[in-house]
Amino acid sequence: MAQLSVEDLVVTYGSVTAVKDVSFVVEDGEFVSLLGPSGCGKTTTLRCIAGLEASSGGTIRIDGEIVAADGRDVPPEKRDINMVFQSYAVWPHMTVYENVAYGLKTRHEPAAVIEAKVSEALRTVGLTGYSDRYGTELSGGQQQRVALARAIVTSPRLLLFDEPLSNLDAGLRDRMRFELVELQRRLGKTSLYVTHDQSEAMLMSDRIILMKDGKMVQSGTPRDLYDRPASRFAAEFIGNANILEGTVAGTAGGKHALVTLTDGVTIEGRFSWPAQSTVFGLVLVCIRAESIILVTSGSKAVNCFEAHVKSVNFLGAVVNCLLQIGGVALRADLPARNPPHVGQTIMVRIDPEAVTLISEH
Ligand SMILES: Nc1ncnc2c1ncn2[C@@H]1O[C@H](COP(=O)(O)OP(=O)(O)OP(=O)(O)O)[C@@H](O)[C@H]1O
Ligand SMILES: [Mg+2]
Repeated sequence: MAQLSVEDLVVTYGSVTAVKDVSFVVEDGEFVSLLGPSGCGKTTTLRCIAGLEASSGGTIRIDGEIVAADGRDVPPEKRDINMVFQSYAVWPHMTVYENVAYGLKTRHEPAAVIEAKVSEALRTVGLTGYSDRYGTELSGGQQQRVALARAIVTSPRLLLFDEPLSNLDAGLRDRMRFELVELQRRLGKTSLYVTHDQSEAMLMSDRIILMKDGKMVQSGTPRDLYDRPASRFAAEFIGNANILEGTVAGTAGGKHALVTLTDGVTIEGRFSWPAQSTVFGLVLVCIRAESIILVTSGSKAVNCFEAHVKSVNFLGAVVNCLLQIGGVALRADLPARNPPHVGQTIMVRIDPEAVTLISEH
C-alpha cells in the first residue's frame, strides 16, 4: 500500500512538451483515472511514474520516497510498481503459470511460495485451471486476466493501467470494468488508470484527473466533474451536454443567476463554482440531455418552456429529441414510453440546479 505524489512533472521529447507541470496525489488505496483525448499525455505520465520514461522536470514520490527528480530516475525494477498494458504483453511461448510466476522467479522466491502466490493470483482473476495453457491458446479477455494476475502477484506498492480494456469487445469490456474495480477494492491497491473513455473513468474511479494538451485541466470525483465542469472542454468531454452561450442579466432567488440566451429566452441556473456567482456578462450554459423533463402543458414553474419537437431518435431506455425553444435548439433525453412525436409542441422543465453556468476565461 502506498501513496503516489506527482509534483510539477514535465516531459519533453525534443521540441514537443508532452507533459506540462502536472501535479496530483493518489492516496493510499485510491483508484484515480487520468482521462483525456488522444495525445494529451496520459501514457507519458504513467510511463514516467513506472520509470519507463525519463522525466525532464518535477518530482515523483512513492510513500514520500523520491523515485524521480531533477533528471535522476530510480530504475523501474526498483520502484515496486506493476503496469498493465493495452496490448496485454502476455508471452505466447510461456504457459499461464510461467507468465504469472516470472516476476517472482526473478526475485528468487522459494518454489513453494511461488506456487502458492501464483495459484492465489490466478484464483483472484478467475483463471484457476488455466495454468498449463500457452499464451497463444487464450482469448483476448483471458490474456488480459493473465496480465492482471502478473501485475498483482508480486504485491506491488502501486498498480498502473494503460487502457487495459480497450482491445476487448464491448460486452466483455463492460463486465471487466466491474470486475477490475471490484478487484481493486478487495485488494485495496493504490491504482492509477489511464483511459480516454469518460464512461469507463466515471464508473471505475474514486477521482478523475482530466487532461488536455499535456496539462491537467480539472480533477475531482466523477460527480464533481459531471455536476461542476470548469470549462467547455470538461462539460463536453464528460457526458452529453448542450452548451449554449448566454448573458447573466441578474440574480434569482439568491443562489441562482438569470441568464438571457442568445435569442431572448431567459433561464435560471447556478454557477459551476459558487465563488463565481457575482460574475456578470457572457457565460457558457451547460444543460445535460437527461436534465430536460417533460411536464404537463401550461405549467408555470421556474424554467418551464414550450418546445417544438424537431426530431425523435429511439435509443432504448430513452428517446433523444431535438427540441426548439424559441431560437434555442436543445437535445433532450425523454422517456421512451409514450415519446413525443415530430412536429408536436410539448412543455419541458429544466431544474435551475441542472443548468450549470461556466464562466470560462
Ligand atoms: N517517444 C516519443 N517521441 C516523441 N513524441 C512522443 C513520444 N511519445 C509520445 N509523444 C508525444 O507526446 C504526446 C503525448 O503522448 P501520449 O502517448 O502520452 O498521449 P496519450 O494521452 O496516452 O494518447 P492516447 O490516448 O492516444 O494513447 C503526443 O503528442 C505524442 O505524439
Ligand atoms: Mg496512451
